[in-house]
Amino acid sequence: MTFFITTSISYVNGEPHLGHAYEAIACDILARHHRQRGEDVFFLTGTDEHGEPVADRAHAEGIEPQELADRNAERFKALMPLLNVSNDFFIRTTDPQHEARVQEVLQKVYDNGYVYEGVYEGWYCPRCADFKTESEVVDGNRCAIHGIELTREQEENWFFKLSAFQQLLEEHFAAHPDFVMPARAYNEAHAFLTHGLEDVSLTRKKLTWGVTVPWDPSHVFYVWFDALLNYYTALSYARPGEDLTDRYWPAQLHMIGKDIFKFHTIFWPALLAAAGIALPEHVFVHGFLMGADGRKMSKSLGNGLDPFEALEVFGADALRFYLARDVQFGEDGSVGMESLKARYSSELANEYGNLASRTIAMIGRYCEGSVPAATTDPLIGDEFRGLAESVVLLLDHADLTQALELIWQRVRRLNRYAEERQPWQLAKDPEQADALRQVLATMYEGLRVITVMLVAYVPESAARLLDALGANATDWSAAQFATAASAAAVVALPPLFPKSL
Ligand code: MSP
Repeated sequence: MTFFITTSISYVNGEPHLGHAYEAIACDILARHHRQRGEDVFFLTGTDEHGEPVADRAHAEGIEPQELADRNAERFKALMPLLNVSNDFFIRTTDPQHEARVQEVLQKVYDNGYVYEGVYEGWYCPRCADFKTESEVVDGNRCAIHGIELTREQEENWFFKLSAFQQLLEEHFAAHPDFVMPARAYNEAHAFLTHGLEDVSLTRKKLTWGVTVPWDPSHVFYVWFDALLNYYTALSYARPGEDLTDRYWPAQLHMIGKDIFKFHTIFWPALLAAAGIALPEHVFVHGFLMGADGRKMSKSLGNGLDPFEALEVFGADALRFYLARDVQFGEDGSVGMESLKARYSSELANEYGNLASRTIAMIGRYCEGSVPAATTDPLIGDEFRGLAESVVLLLDHADLTQALELIWQRVRRLNRYAEERQPWQLAKDPEQADALRQVLATMYEGLRVITVMLVAYVPESAARLLDALGANATDWSAAQFATAASAAAVVALPPLFPKSL
């Protein structure tokens, strides 16, 4: 079974920010989880380098767009290992292989009769690189997303016959109620669709920074069509000398933010259908992270969470955990350094870190470092029953937050179990030796199972802990709570989440 997952690709007109880190982390959690399930995973991310936003920015800096793209693409690329993101390829839309493949696919769309010449007249937002329909314009002539004044454009363009796909898309939405997730995003995309589709510009005559249109070299492709195609073109050259398209296409999941849903849930499937290419299975639309004061993050307001600062202070695992946990995935939410710090100390250090260190310490102290090969407590066994299956179900709907909540309930349960059974008291009474062995075997087994499940969320800490627990298996079948702990040697390790940072 294959699992092909993608982030959107970032504009290189600015530097990486938390929104980019958020999407990459979310996809990485899912990619790692599916690898644990033994699936053949391909995880793609990259940069969107053509079009007006990049050309304008380069112009403002007095440099060529390629120079700006080269400089900023490196910054995006460098962010991935810092976040511990395990992407299989990083695509840049200025890669010559991408450009050639874009021309090939769009020529096919032309040959299939879905392209015609016309004159575009209407509102255009250079920041979105988007031609706005009347219903998307606010206050007379402003962009609903950026609030800036839109320009009135009149341009001879080649058009894509989006309207020809009205029925096909309606049928697709009806037959695949989870094509767009979560449900709120499905409803929004569906409403856009039922409003009626208008044809859209496929090319731009006014711009030169883009992929040349093969049947009319005085035009370049409109950046969104070039950009969307990255998901497909990457497979043809990600592995030198190999074409992975048949192996991984269609994609299982495109992860995107809510400002770009129209392109991914409407334009993209229509374009693929026009080229005779299979449609992706799911598009997941995540929410927006806002500053701690509930306003859009901005440097001048100083209300933001800078991913680089957060990484430096707390590390990648803590940032990953925090973003998956603090804001219900799929919804908007506020984030900030203060609440990251609070989660770090109350949950990672005091709950999970403490469970790990007390379990290892007691096995060291009372059992000479060997996990007692005793039967585990059926009471706790019952509370772990069905957990792995529930987590799978939630993660199949990209519900990173609820899946983590289910896991966390068990972290808390095991700490409570320790308080209830007081193994340090049992250790004082030789008659309670068997009870002590059972309590420690149970804590060990619970901690092991939880940690296997947390591999996707906090890969570095989970690997260190599993190593200390002498438990190497990280595949999903190891996430089952056993009726007897298997004998293993545990070794002490420094605190996973030190309290003094
Ligand atoms: N280049 C286009 C996408 C092309 S995909 C074929 C683009 N780039 S972007 O750099 O502006 O945004 C990249 C992603 O970051 C988008 O999915 C966007 O929704 C997301 N985010 C940008 N700001 C965000 C937050 N504050 N919070 C969460 N995600 C946000 O759009």
